[in-house]
Amino acid sequence: MTNPNPDRKKTTLTDGKILLRPYQKNDVDDIHRAIRESLKEMGAWLPFAHPNYNIKETREWLNKRDKEWKQGIAYDFGIFDAKDGSFIGGCGISGVVKTMRHANLGYWVRTSRIGEGIAPAATRLLAKWAFDVIGLTRVEVLVAVGNKKSLRAALKSGAKKEGILRNRLVMYGKACDAVMHSIIPGDLKA
Ligand SMILES: CC(C)(COP(=O)(O)OP(=O)(O)OC[C@H]1O[C@@H](n2cnc3c(N)ncnc32)[C@H](O)[C@@H]1OP(=O)(O)O)[C@@H](O)C(=O)NCCC(=O)NCCS
Repeated sequence: MTNPNPDRKKTTLTDGKILLRPYQKNDVDDIHRAIRESLKEMGAWLPFAHPNYNIKETREWLNKRDKEWKQGIAYDFGIFDAKDGSFIGGCGISGVVKTMRHANLGYWVRTSRIGEGIAPAATRLLAKWAFDVIGLTRVEVLVAVGNKKSLRAALKSGAKKEGILRNRLVMYGKACDAVMHSIIPGDLKA
């Protein structure tokens, strides 16, 4: 890969509307508040957003971001409003397979900001960074078959639907089918 450990402190991605940057320890309250506010939307599809989700869990997760970035395992970013700096949601690259230069890309948007095209925009920014900086040649967006909003967001980002993977995800102990999408560098030129 080109550079599996780019400088976290110098990494900022923006399209003028949103700004993506790696999380900082003092983001803890904003992240926790956004997830708590969005439990109904998020909890249906992201099991970490369970009804009793608490700030200790946010802090523990945040504390691992730097190490996993340095190890080239996961690259997580907060999504912020480029104009007023408010926290909107999160996105990240995970499950990096270095030898095959691919990884998973995931996202969530706080409920008060859904419907503004933020997840598709964040996906494009993050995928481009993963190709240009990390050196990946494919990112995968895997969405549970029933998650209509996310299926739409994936397609709006420019990701291509490849097919349905049977029992690919386990949600609350139950296996479910998922739609595999991918983005390769040429998809972002459109
Ligand atoms: C899925 C998710 C990230 C989409 O983010 P977003 O920034 O709102 O994406 P978009 O604005 O492009 O909206 C995508 C689609 O969601 C639907 N949608 C958005 N807001 C909606 C609302 N208020 N009511 C009903 N449908 C809505 C629309 O179908 C929209 O497509 P359209 O723009 O063609 O109408 C967001 O809904 C979310 O965080 N959901 C919970 C977590 C999750 O599912 N994460 C993804 C796991 S794979």
